[in-house]
Amino acid sequence: MTATQRPHGPILLGVNIDHVATVRQARRAAFPDPLTAAHVAEQAGADSITLHLREDRRHIQDADVERFARGVSTHINLEMAAIPEMIAIARRLRPSDVCLVPERRQEVTTEGGLDVIGARDRLTDAIAELREGGCRVSLFIDPDRYQIEAAHAVGAPVIELHTGAYAEVTGEAQGVELKRLVTAARYANKLGLIVNAGHGLDYHNVQPVAAIAEIVELNIGFSIIARALFSGLHQAVVDMKQLMRAAR
Ligand code: PXP
Repeated sequence: MTATQRPHGPILLGVNIDHVATVRQARRAAFPDPLTAAHVAEQAGADSITLHLREDRRHIQDADVERFARGVSTHINLEMAAIPEMIAIARRLRPSDVCLVPERRQEVTTEGGLDVIGARDRLTDAIAELREGGCRVSLFIDPDRYQIEAAHAVGAPVIELHTGAYAEVTGEAQGVELKRLVTAARYANKLGLIVNAGHGLDYHNVQPVAAIAEIVELNIGFSIIARALFSGLHQAVVDMKQLMRAAR
């Protein structure tokens, strides 16, 4: 665990800049540049920059990952599927963090967590290869005790809890989902895992999750980039970080 990654310390914000690339790809243009967005986010207080190289290359492109690997001054967290093509890219570019996610071509965004139990052998090999390549591996999983145990068993040092189920509901149902996240974060922390979280978090629902002391970092994209259209990216990142910090 690095000095900047202590559970119970100030919570960290990873800004996901994929949707800057979504806008660029809508015109196959050279702008807006997601790397410029990453620099603005860093200046506004982002602790890391997350990008997802999808198999269909719908937003981030291979050349982006190359530029990010050299051009980000915090560190990058590369989200990707655990497939040979992506593992080879990660081993070549050596991002400090890799988050393995499930991927379905038709999905609008990552829909659920990895089935670590079902893919135990494949993930054990992927994690070992990535570790050899100098990457710290995180597994994106639902807040489920058995998936957490499997993540620990396959040798992942980090998990990212999928907050989508929490973000999609309101009222009492949201309280139930929050409890699942709290229980999962505490359990994973007890096992010695570093616990991050993300997906679907926005300016209205982030604080109860940011208040969970065992969570080290939140990865947030869509809501920040959407707000940036009206407030500018710098302010959108400042606002999100302020809310997160105020929750602890
Ligand atoms: N974490 C992971 C693993 C993701 O796949 C995503 C979406 O790319 C996010 C966090 C960010 O989700 P959102 O864009 O909904 O904030």
